[in-house]
Amino acid sequence: MGPIDGPPVRLRPPAAADLLRIFEWYRDPEVVAPFDRFGSESFDVFRRSVDDAPTDPSSLAPRFVVEPAPEGPVVGTVGHYQPHPVLETVEVWYLIGDPAARGRGYGKAAVGLLLDRLFDTSAVERIGISCDVNNVPSVRLAEGLGFRREGTLRSALFHHGRWHDVAQYGITRAERSPRDPQG
Ligand SMILES: CC(C)(COP(=O)(O)OP(=O)(O)OC[C@H]1O[C@@H](n2cnc3c(N)ncnc32)[C@H](O)[C@@H]1OP(=O)(O)O)[C@@H](O)C(=O)NCCC(=O)NCCS
Repeated sequence: MGPIDGPPVRLRPPAAADLLRIFEWYRDPEVVAPFDRFGSESFDVFRRSVDDAPTDPSSLAPRFVVEPAPEGPVVGTVGHYQPHPVLETVEVWYLIGDPAARGRGYGKAAVGLLLDRLFDTSAVERIGISCDVNNVPSVRLAEGLGFRREGTLRSALFHHGRWHDVAQYGITRAERSPRDPQG
């Protein structure tokens, strides 16, 4: 997929020069907390996963980097993947890796742009987010974009030494882009 222009952010596919920075975010517990467990693969494995992602709908690798427009430094990354072998749903994930760039609306804007691109370029009807129930910024981002909480997966994610409940959010095409009933 090509770049997606905001404002306030621009999304573009990761370039080789971005990968070490993203990989370092993944390996820093203070950056990803309370996102997930920490990446343990090598940089070469990570780089290959990014290269292979465009032809693998289930890949969890970063699909876009997030730049505050215009041409700002890379502050984060977002991705999307098919989480289930049968169900026709897509999940999005997001990371503002530069802690100084959090809380400025970049995460919410980036995910909004990604949602619109996915709805515009595929037939998907529902897009989901899975996030730790205690991840307040992530919960607020999802709810602020109009995602509905559909349920809770109990003890579904292990990180920081214990099991965490995971909230399941979803938004449908109609909820993201309400059709004019007259149109
Ligand atoms: C989740 C994350 C991407 C949010 O990105 P961000 O750019 O900081 O968030 P935004 O500025 O777009 O804000 C989104 C919402 O969260 C709220 N928020 C942001 N930081 C917050 C904080 N520290 N505490 C409480 N609320 C916060 C904002 O007020 C906003 O809600 P609102 O629209 O109701 O005002 C970022 O915190 C992050 O990268 N966290 C680590 C990785 C992670 O948890 N990813 C999600 C995994 S499911």
